[in-house]
Amino acid sequence: VVLVVDFGAQYAQLIARRVREARVYSEIVPSTMPVAEMLARNPRAIILSGGPSSVYAEGAPTLDRALFEAGVPVFGMCYGFQLMATMLGGTVDDNGAREYGRTPLSVSKAGSTLFEGTPTEQPVWMSHGDACSAAPEGFTVTASTDVVPVAAFENDEKKLYGVQYHPEVMHSTHGQQVLEHFLYRGAGIEPTWTTTNVVEEQIALIREQVGTKRAICGLSGGVDSAVAAALVQKAIGSQLTCVYVDHGLMRKGETEQVEKDFVAATGVKLRVVDAEKRFLDALAGVSDPEQKRKIIGREFIRVFEQAQAEIIAEVAGGEDVAFLVQGTLYPDVVESGGGTGTANIKSHHNVGGLPEDIEFQLVEPLRQLFKDEVRMVGQELGLPEEIVQRQPFPGPGLGIRIVGEVTKERLDLLRDADAIAREELTAAGLDRDIWQCPVVLLADVRSVGVQGDGRTYGHPVVLRPVSSEDAMTADWSRLPYETLAKISTRITNEVADVNRVVLDVTSKPPGTIEWE
Ligand code: XMP
Repeated sequence: VVLVVDFGAQYAQLIARRVREARVYSEIVPSTMPVAEMLARNPRAIILSGGPSSVYAEGAPTLDRALFEAGVPVFGMCYGFQLMATMLGGTVDDNGAREYGRTPLSVSKAGSTLFEGTPTEQPVWMSHGDACSAAPEGFTVTASTDVVPVAAFENDEKKLYGVQYHPEVMHSTHGQQVLEHFLYRGAGIEPTWTTTNVVEEQIALIREQVGTKRAICGLSGGVDSAVAAALVQKAIGSQLTCVYVDHGLMRKGETEQVEKDFVAATGVKLRVVDAEKRFLDALAGVSDPEQKRKIIGREFIRVFEQAQAEIIAEVAGGEDVAFLVQGTLYPDVVESGGGTGTANIKSHHNVGGLPEDIEFQLVEPLRQLFKDEVRMVGQELGLPEEIVQRQPFPGPGLGIRIVGEVTKERLDLLRDADAIAREELTAAGLDRDIWQCPVVLLADVRSVGVQGDGRTYGHPVVLRPVSSEDAMTADWSRLPYETLAKISTRITNEVADVNRVVLDVTSKPPGTIEWE
């Protein structure tokens, strides 16, 4: 494993993904993890991420020097680079030499470990206040910029490397190459990690974990739970029963699709539970997003426990069902604060929203994977394109796309608006260009409109089309005006009580993809 030490920026996940793109398995650990614990995991290399702090700021995160003396190759980026510089005896000045955004980098040692085969002038993405003016002893300076005399340094003997910029972002055009040079040349790691290995490894692990016992899996119709279920089905076959909870927060036609497509593709045993009333009763009067998420997570588990009892009685002939399969992904784990020092941004219903008295043991075969990797695993398992390439849909469903209290009337209204948006996006051939397009109902907002000859006082819906690689960061999609116009006209004409359609033009960060 390659460990990516997270200094609290959004960059650590991107670095971890880039390492995996280089076919080397990586995981994120918080910078507060004791170095002894990091080393106990026998990492093949350690990468220090960027971070929001200045190394001179009071309380700035730091590391035990032992990390640099353990013989493990280390690559520092941005904050990680400056930390290396100061801890190893170099000089970092807070002299206001700041650089933000795309910056030309001059490589001063073309054949170096990091820069071999890359141009002597290359654009890189900078984001820093302080600047390194002298490398630590034993290090060679291998690149600089107009502002920063030491923008990269290398110590081949000790296998310590660092760059001031962010090689993990797309704008650093040779960043991936530099990262791969560190992994292959600097750290001597072979690129062998593939999704085929993941499938084989997970199947073995699932068999070991579940043994001859029975498992159930919650299917949501989304990619994650579908791939998780298909993987477990492959591992333990008929010991698995899938449960699809219709919580009444699904989109139009979704339940029917799961019943048809997924079962046809996998031959899995499926039980559909109609729990609409139960969820709506539990959500009545609640408009706080975190509270909604917790309630939905809790009710999910309760419904499963009930289904479990029924399955034990009918299918398992009295034998216990001990395991619950979930399609939890790595970003869910990281964003819910599991394993890193990053803030809890939202409780994902399948991680932070779990009640404490849960009776199942969890089987989460995708817990270490990013979304694009899950899609590859799905392909590997032979799932049809319509399932593997489906746009992400959150577990709490439309419940977190109604800003305000969730009611049946509001859900029906949002379902209609959402179906129109999806229909038009598909008709325009835009499905592959957008990552997902939540449609959000601002249920507590009303605005004045005019339709026919009369005044209306209806609700706005928000279109939130985004492009993204992994949902960690996203940009709003520049949809063609004709498509937007068509969606707007149809929604205001066809959905009673909606008299305004607005477009969300916020990237993530600062906005999240969903509104709640
Ligand atoms: P945000 O809104 O945090 O969403 O930018 C990132 C991605 O995660 C999806 N999402 C969820 N998925 N359970 C899920 O399974 C959840 O509770 C949840 N909340 C958000 C969201 O649709 C987007 O793809």
